[in-house]
Amino acid sequence: MINEKISKKYKLKLKEYNKHNKLYYEKNKPTISDSEYDKLKLEILEFEKKYNIAPKKNSPSINIGYTASKSFEKYKHKVKMLSLSNAFGYEDLLNFEKKIFNYLNKNINFSYSVEPKIDGISASLTYKNKKFIVGVSRGDGNEGEIITENLKTIKDIPLEINSKNFPDEIEIRGEVYIKKKDFLNIKDNFANPRNAASGSLRQKDPNETKKIPLRFIAYTFGYIKNNQFKTQTEFLIELKKWGFKTNIDNKILRNVNDLVNFHKEFENKRFDLEYDVDGLVYKINEFNLQNRLGFTSNSPRWAIAHKFSADSASTKINKIEIQIGRTGALTPVAKVEPVNIGGVVVSNATLHNEDEIDRKDIRIGDLVKIERAGDVIPHVIEVDKTKRSKSSKKFKFPTICPSCGSNTIKEFNTLTKKYDAVRRCTNDSFGCEKIAIEKLKHFISKEALNIDGLGKKVVEKLWDLDFINKPQDIFSLDYNKITNLDGWGTQSVNNLKNSIENSKKVSLQRFIYSLGIRHIGIENSKLISDNIKNISKFIELIKSKQFDSFLNIDGIGETQIKSLKNFFSNKSNISIVIELTSLLKIESQILNGNGILKGKSFMFTGKLNGISRAEAKSLVEKNSGSTLNNVSKNLDYLVVGEKATNKKVEQAKTLGIDIISLEELKKLLN
Ligand code: IVH
Repeated sequence: MINEKISKKYKLKLKEYNKHNKLYYEKNKPTISDSEYDKLKLEILEFEKKYNIAPKKNSPSINIGYTASKSFEKYKHKVKMLSLSNAFGYEDLLNFEKKIFNYLNKNINFSYSVEPKIDGISASLTYKNKKFIVGVSRGDGNEGEIITENLKTIKDIPLEINSKNFPDEIEIRGEVYIKKKDFLNIKDNFANPRNAASGSLRQKDPNETKKIPLRFIAYTFGYIKNNQFKTQTEFLIELKKWGFKTNIDNKILRNVNDLVNFHKEFENKRFDLEYDVDGLVYKINEFNLQNRLGFTSNSPRWAIAHKFSADSASTKINKIEIQIGRTGALTPVAKVEPVNIGGVVVSNATLHNEDEIDRKDIRIGDLVKIERAGDVIPHVIEVDKTKRSKSSKKFKFPTICPSCGSNTIKEFNTLTKKYDAVRRCTNDSFGCEKIAIEKLKHFISKEALNIDGLGKKVVEKLWDLDFINKPQDIFSLDYNKITNLDGWGTQSVNNLKNSIENSKKVSLQRFIYSLGIRHIGIENSKLISDNIKNISKFIELIKSKQFDSFLNIDGIGETQIKSLKNFFSNKSNISIVIELTSLLKIESQILNGNGILKGKSFMFTGKLNGISRAEAKSLVEKNSGSTLNNVSKNLDYLVVGEKATNKKVEQAKTLGIDIISLEELKKLLN
């Protein structure tokens, strides 16, 4: 039980925090800076930790960040609004380009459309029959808020377009922003130009939005009916002809060297621009190549954001803490003297792993330079060894797990013939407290069971109270006990109850992912669930440990199979799955759509002409077919390229499987 004085202080801090939330999100008139706000948030989190306080519903540990305003109607985007992956330098860009070549085949020609990345708020504008009919914010990428009336107040957004070639239906996307000079007039009300744009876009009354000189720059489309355009550059030119503003600094470049040179040049120029930019966006210019490359789960393969240099600052390492992750990885974190880096107070910096500490010889007490860029976790870039005291000692990385005392190991990678840089606790499953808590957090996370009433902090609290130890405990919580906890009321307990109930219906893919098996992330969980289709098959496999059959699945290899075998060699993991099966309603996988290859399986052998294996595979999947990695009686077609493996062709012949060429596959696809 916490004493009254502490409880009072905590409530006061919360009150202050919620006052600023209101000022920021509802009134759009923050009275403190972003960094002061972050500091307050941090104080509350630390207070809860220090005095073991069960967080209240309106604490930042439960109510994380931005809550969508209730006053706007929701809108599901026709085409998801994804984000871009980031590059920070030459290496990242080479890597990006290499992946493109691998995917598309080496001898392909393309150019890059290079565009400044304005630091504003993205918006989507749908036009039907040449009229602007609905405007939506990005939201979480799947679903945004309808802000049509507010967007209509922006002069750069045409309400009607008369051009002949304007598509019958098109959703145009771009950035809403405010110029630096206009921001000066309202700087007392907002922390920065981006906040000003976002705040005024979310005003309930469009007349309020109108008071702030918002601008709009168009840069892409989401949905488009009958796309006639061949390249991004061509599309940008059309946008301008239609009456949209486009960026005057857009240009075409052809290789990574040119990109890096232009980036250097632009980085200096950015301060003279009329608006804030946080990097450059590079897009493969040709739409046919963009279509072939497609998307990963979060971002397009055909575009990347090249960020400008991060902000950095010097500070002192007070302590090195070892955090233990869900898969047992020991991650060292430097607790540093709090320092303001580009408006955010930083007090933690990741040191990545044991090897990194060794390589940079990072020690407690060192003066270090810390870098922070965008959403990337702050990290140490260099140690000032000249300022090191004589008594300083090399940091000794623990060889036993600080949480459970078990042995730790660095795995040997048989492919690279090197030891892993990461040290791991060997006490897998729920035997190690820290690992168990992280596993539970993973289980409830958005991409897994998505129990949103049960945040990470609540998991920690319920663990501390011994209410939950394993995932299945979540479904037999004693809600009466929770209602009696400090900080909980009937309403919040009801919310928790509802979100737990709702999470019980779950797809097989999410369920497999929720188990938190190393190397079985979102993509691999999907591959597995597409292959086994239902939970009974999964149970059968984990009992018999016949995971080798997964070698058949294109994309699953030895690493994943080894990890599955390892995970289920632990009996407690098997019983967790079985118990969960009886508590949840795990839905069987419905195979993707009704495409022309539905129900047919394909395998590729040999070099395919003009198309990579990955692309051929995704072509089959896009049309609802599946791909296998081995010849078996389950296979329908063997697609043969140059220098095909004879053995596979022979096997296919024996089994009477159709052997076809790439051209014949294309014919099947019309
Ligand atoms: S293209 C699939 N082009 O950056 C992503 N985005 O991290 C398509 N942005 O949400 C986005 N300038 O808010 C694109 N010229 C530009 C951009 C740009 C700024 C922002 C946008 C987006 C974010 C992606």
